[in-house]
Amino acid sequence: MSEFKINALKQAGASRWLQSLGLLLIGLLLAGCERPIPETVQTGYRGTGMVQVYNPRLLEAKTEQNQPPVALPSPGSDGPKASQVYKNVKVLGHLSVGEFNRLMVSMSSWIAPQEGCGYCHQLQNFADDSKYTKVVARRMVEMTRHINADWKPHVAETGVTCYTCHRGQPVPSAVWFKSDPQPYGSNFMGDKAGQNTPMEVVNLSSLPNDPFTPFLLGDQKIRVNGPTALPSGNRQSIKQAEWTYGLMTHMSTALGVNCTYCHNTQSFQNWTNSPPQRTKAWHGIRMARDLNLAYLEPLTEVFPDYRKGPTGDAPKLNCATCHQGAYKPLNGAQMAKDFPELQKHPEVLTTKVAAK
Ligand code: HEC
Ligand code: HEC
Ligand code: HEC
Ligand code: HEC
Repeated sequence: MSEFKINALKQAGASRWLQSLGLLLIGLLLAGCERPIPETVQTGYRGTGMVQVYNPRLLEAKTEQNQPPVALPSPGSDGPKASQVYKNVKVLGHLSVGEFNRLMVSMSSWIAPQEGCGYCHQLQNFADDSKYTKVVARRMVEMTRHINADWKPHVAETGVTCYTCHRGQPVPSAVWFKSDPQPYGSNFMGDKAGQNTPMEVVNLSSLPNDPFTPFLLGDQKIRVNGPTALPSGNRQSIKQAEWTYGLMTHMSTALGVNCTYCHNTQSFQNWTNSPPQRTKAWHGIRMARDLNLAYLEPLTEVFPDYRKGPTGDAPKLNCATCHQGAYKPLNGAQMAKDFPELQKHPEVLTTKVAAK
């Protein structure tokens, strides 16, 4: 065999060896992407891609995050009413003193387990309203009742308590603010609308990172596609489409689901092919908008500056404030039924937001 041939054979051997090393590395890399192997749950017809993909490890962490606390036993509605015993009760006066105190203790553990009563109260005088947290909490009681009574198309009998959003902390883990204006360059170049500034709310994508102001405060149309194959008068702008995708990305991450939880991707806009969850989500969008407009924005003057956003607006809620990664908050635990105090009561007049 000529020296030339031997060299060529050696090279071929070496390159084959390198090739298999390469394949092995790629294999390792791919295997390293998701550990353990994800599980899939089919949610629609075969072959339509209607499937949810779950990583058991992440699912377990999420399940842990969504455990509801045990409710204190109710002392019942007998005995004197709170309004007969206390001085400054505007929304809880119809409760028995026992129910009232159970709710105060529960609220402390849901909102400020470390600080306790003192988080909302001047401990020398419980009737005093000088802490902003008490004023906010009173309005939150009304908001919670409004959700449970008037938003049943979304929250059903599952309902919510303070814990659904607060989870043992004064500021829920997901709140949002209007984004700062972000001019391109020096001036006259327009606003970059939060694009290419990756944020968790849009899963670190380049989509506009405040898809909430237009849809969960304003009532802009959530639209992308034209209904026909060829351009024929679809007036939706590209910016609107990008905001829509930003919101959809938030909705998916907030619930821990894929787009196919609510859409048949053959046509995103078609309602008849969409799973019923999409209708639930439609109500969810309207509910979040209503709560932001009717409860959180009007509290702007009550919140201290350090709780406000870069443009001075009040903190607001989105899907993640309640859902926190689960398709039903707290994995569907029905906490609200243990707290009839947080259901609407005909005797209670709605208070206006008290200007401090
Ligand atoms: C998250 C805020 C919050 C926490 C924590 C809290 N409270 Fe309250 N508390 C309120 C609100 C709001 C009212 C007014 C209710 C109303 O207007 O009907 C109130 C009213 C009261 C009153 C009635 C005072 C009066 O004479 O008008 C008492 C008593 C009271 N709370 C006791 C407690 C105790 C005891 C704790 C701790 C175990 C506690 N609260 C924790 C928000 C809170
Ligand atoms: C749907 C979600 C939701 C529910 C339910 C809810 N809250 Fe809130 N709460 C919020 C948001 C959002 C804020 C604004 C966060 C901030 O203060 O920065 C907030 C703020 C507060 C604050 C002010 C905390 C601070 O330090 O600024 C208090 C006190 C409070 N809530 C009490 C309650 C009580 C009591 C209940 C139940 C009766 C309740 N909340 C139910 C979403 C909720
Ligand atoms: C939790 C349910 C839910 C999830 C998850 C979801 N969507 Fe949506 N989507 C909706 C609802 C509801 C609407 C209609 C909103 C309205 O009209 O107010 C909508 C509207 C849309 C539209 C506009 C259709 C039109 O009429 O122009 C597009 C496009 C879209 N979604 C894409 C997506 C994509 C892409 C994903 C995944 C990243 C996704 N959606 C995830 C519920 C969902
Ligand atoms: C005030 C708290 C709250 C907010 C905010 C909220 N949800 Fe929900 N959501 C719930 C509760 C509670 C349920 C469970 C209802 C039930 O048991 O049927 C639920 C259920 C759902 C479901 C049905 C899940 C299923 O498989 O049956 C969808 C979809 C959903 N929410 C989407 C959204 C979207 C999208 C947003 C934001 C635009 C949102 N939610 C905001 C409380 C909330």
